[in-house]
Amino acid sequence: MNGFLVTFEGIDCAGKSTQANRLYTLLRDANVPCLLVRNPGDTNLGCKVRHMVKHDHMQPTSRMFLFAAALNDLCKRRIKPALDEGKIVICDRYTDSSFAYQVADAEEDFGYEMFVENVNRHASMNMIPDITFLLDIPEDEMRRRLGMRMDEQMGKEDIFESKSNTFFKKVRENYAYLASTNDNIEKIDATASRDDVAQQICDVFLQKHNGRAIQWNKPTLMLEKM
Ligand SMILES: Nc1ncnc2c1ncn2[C@@H]1O[C@H](COP(=O)(O)OP(=O)(O)O)[C@@H](O)[C@H]1O
Ligand SMILES: [Mg+2]
Repeated sequence: MNGFLVTFEGIDCAGKSTQANRLYTLLRDANVPCLLVRNPGDTNLGCKVRHMVKHDHMQPTSRMFLFAAALNDLCKRRIKPALDEGKIVICDRYTDSSFAYQVADAEEDFGYEMFVENVNRHASMNMIPDITFLLDIPEDEMRRRLGMRMDEQMGKEDIFESKSNTFFKKVRENYAYLASTNDNIEKIDATASRDDVAQQICDVFLQKHNGRAIQWNKPTLMLEKM
């Protein structure tokens, strides 16, 4: 396995999908072998789970296991094979989402955090990201962007989007805890403009990726594009 795994994390509307897409497009345009996936999703099982966890009411622990099943399927079918081929894999949400959300979601207090961590480790086949970009925005900015996205899509809130600000505050705190205990997590102030956030991501990515086996096709061109 000599690929490179990049994950995007953060509360809803932090800009994960926007930035994951931008990084993927830059790499692809520079002819760097890469793959973009989202979790849950991008496998048959993952798509079904995505729909269920967003729309069906269920116990938090049941939801946690569903997320784990989707992640495991994605890791086995898409992420590991791509990493084995030496690709850069960009994943829109990964194990830190499971931890931050499922721990905030659960009412159990009997070692649940450690349990979720263990489930995550097995689900992700112990594939640890080389970099995680934690896009950080306050809850009120999330609500503002969520409102705009709703208007654009004329959609209804899903189960997570309809949760309280207290819930998202907890999720954000859980993410902050993970960032404080893990050197691979790069926390970024995502209230900045899309271009500023993208530039920071590109800088960190190039710095951390430096020295790896993958050949870059005109990396300077990439920087100019940002
Ligand atoms: N830096 C930013 N500043 C302002 N709005 C942003 C920024 N990044 C993303 N958005 C907008 O916020 C909404 C959510 O972005 P998205 O990338 O879908 O977030 P996520 O995948 O984290 O839920 C979209 O309407 C997007 O255009
Ligand atoms: Mg998204």
